[in-house]
Amino acid sequence: MSLLKLLIFPPILMLSAFIGTADGYYEYRMDECVYSTSDYSDMVYLVSMSFNKVVELQFNSTEGKFVGVTEDGVKQAERLNKDQNLLQGLKASVDTVCRNNAQNNDLAVRDKTVLPKVKLSSVKQAEGNHPAVLMCSAYEFYPKKISVSWLRDGKLMTSDVTSTMEMANGNWYYQIHSQLEYTPKSGEKISCVVEHASSPQPIVKDWNPSMPESERNKIAIGSSGLVLGIIIAAAGLIYYKKKSSGRILVPN
Ligand SMILES: *[C@@H]1O[C@H](CO)[C@@H](O)[C@H](O)[C@H]1NC(C)=O
Repeated sequence: MSLLKLLIFPPILMLSAFIGTADGYYEYRMDECVYSTSDYSDMVYLVSMSFNKVVELQFNSTEGKFVGVTEDGVKQAERLNKDQNLLQGLKASVDTVCRNNAQNNDLAVRDKTVLPKVKLSSVKQAEGNHPAVLMCSAYEFYPKKISVSWLRDGKLMTSDVTSTMEMANGNWYYQIHSQLEYTPKSGEKISCVVEHASSPQPIVKDWNPSMPESERNKIAIGSSGLVLGIIIAAAGLIYYKKKSSGRILVPN
């Protein structure tokens, strides 16, 4: 399991000091809760104090004290470690801040799953000796762990499959793409199978070679347009009939 790093925001997180030059200097403190177990037994509260891009000193709740990294950081750590109140307060944060936040975040995010949107499409049609290429894409799913595989008449296909890694969308969701190169045979059934924590059953998309999805969409839009047209025409005709039957025609 990868390390989960959570940024938390105590009241004073960043101190920027712009002294002297136009570029200025950048002094900041980063608070992290680092853990990899679901019971939070290995939780560490880590405070890093940096100047520009250099970490000068760190507080690690397991060690319970500041440790200097740079020469200046060593001096600062020595001074801060004399403050028992400060050390006790920071040590307690592993419970009050980290474990507490982690629990809330798990309820809000980690234990939730979001069903992938699966799309099966043709990249290249078979031509002469060249194989056909299909693409199966899963979008907007969470969490990251997913499996995409291909079946030919119910049997797993292993060769000529290339898959991307799960890619982060940057909004907690992931996407993945898998390509299959194959030589089509008539009467066969090709399917893309997606397995994910959000669905108890595998999500199966069957490839329909006779009609690409865009064509099916065009037909669907066309036929709904036709039905709508017939309804409007019928309504118009009924309205016209009613109007004309209500009128008394006087012969000349
Ligand atoms: C915190 O300190 C402990 C004990 O020295 C160490 O094992 C651990 O890796 C440190 N954690 C981090 C995130 O630096």
